[in-house]
Amino acid sequence: MLNTEEIRKDFPILKRKINGHPLVYLDNGATSQKPIQVINSIVDYYENHNANVHRGVHTLSAEATEMYEEARKKVAKFINAEPEEIIFTKNASEALNLVAYTYGDSFISQGDSIATSIMEHHSGFIPWQVLAKKKNATLEVMNVTKEGEIPESEYSKISKSKLTSIVHASNVLGTINPVKEFAKLAHENEGVILVDGSQSVPHLPVDVKDLDCDFFAFTGHKMLGPTGIGVLYGKKELLEKMPPFLYGGEMVVDAKVEGCKWNEIPHKFEAGTPNMAGTIGLGAAIDYLNNLGMENVRAHEVELLSHATKALLEIEGLELYGPKDPTQRTGVLTFNIPGLSSIDLSSFMDEYGFAIRSGFHCAQPVHEALGILPSARISFYIYNTKEEIDALIPKIKEVRKAMS
Ligand SMILES: Cc1ncc(COP(=O)(O)O)c(C=O)c1O
Repeated sequence: MLNTEEIRKDFPILKRKINGHPLVYLDNGATSQKPIQVINSIVDYYENHNANVHRGVHTLSAEATEMYEEARKKVAKFINAEPEEIIFTKNASEALNLVAYTYGDSFISQGDSIATSIMEHHSGFIPWQVLAKKKNATLEVMNVTKEGEIPESEYSKISKSKLTSIVHASNVLGTINPVKEFAKLAHENEGVILVDGSQSVPHLPVDVKDLDCDFFAFTGHKMLGPTGIGVLYGKKELLEKMPPFLYGGEMVVDAKVEGCKWNEIPHKFEAGTPNMAGTIGLGAAIDYLNNLGMENVRAHEVELLSHATKALLEIEGLELYGPKDPTQRTGVLTFNIPGLSSIDLSSFMDEYGFAIRSGFHCAQPVHEALGILPSARISFYIYNTKEEIDALIPKIKEVRKAMS
């Protein structure tokens, strides 16, 4: 179990007051807060080691390169991949687009199908919509049930597709999709599968070899890391046959007027000066999570989810979306209260120090499919407590009373 009292001491921002109230930060689905260990790792990099990587033989450049590549090894180990299969991007959106622009552009042709689902974040939906249009391919969008799950009747969309892109855990419904099963289906039919793990890697143990996915994307800032750093995992044999994404320095080993020879993976996909401080910060975030143990991170979340689900459902008329079983979902709880707009609710809650989200959460299609209005969302992480939930619920009730 996590010792939240100790954990909270590592997060300077949690000492803040908002409108005179202690901050209760429940917008972790959007971004997580950062522990002092991550902040210090970035300060240390700039104070003591800053230089450009892979380019110089001087001491600082060698140190910076070593730290950068060490971070890649940590990321690889964290998801059970090989270091050369880890590409650093600026966020998950860029990682997802990278696959669309390189693999998609090279291997999707007119008449092919691309499968995705209606519960995707816009970053995991729009690249495929654009690619399908460009290639005259078909976009097969798997629907969801009222309970927020993809019904088996939709799985044939994976079987018929050359490429499937699917979110591991929905940022609206919390649903954890059976991506291992989806990968099996995709491979039986010679397709490839890309998993968007932006909402799973921060919260669950993830093993890309066990899932057997071909590509896996996630983002550092939702898992205690800094902004501006994301990750794309790709199977070595696929990355090797894909063209580069961006062109420039670092991704080339021989540049001649007649033509160029691309660098080896993963550098082939990392044009230009990378975000060194960001990768080092992400490495420190992984150290922090490893110290806690991802099994414990998940157990804490399930406990908070059980507690909050029960309490939220006691609010009369409240509609909670996604699976009700906390073991089937991650720590995002999205809801609406009839007669109370989610934007009003979150701005009133802010007056009492609660940071909660409202709107479409960059996932408008799933709102439309389920016929729901922009929604309110609370999302947990390692520093949240049952006491915070116990403080939240009466305030929601109070706001609702005041507004009706
Ligand atoms: C499921 C999912 N995919 C992708 C993203 C995009 O992440 P980023 O904005 O870091 O690129 C998010 C962010 O909210 C997300 O929740």
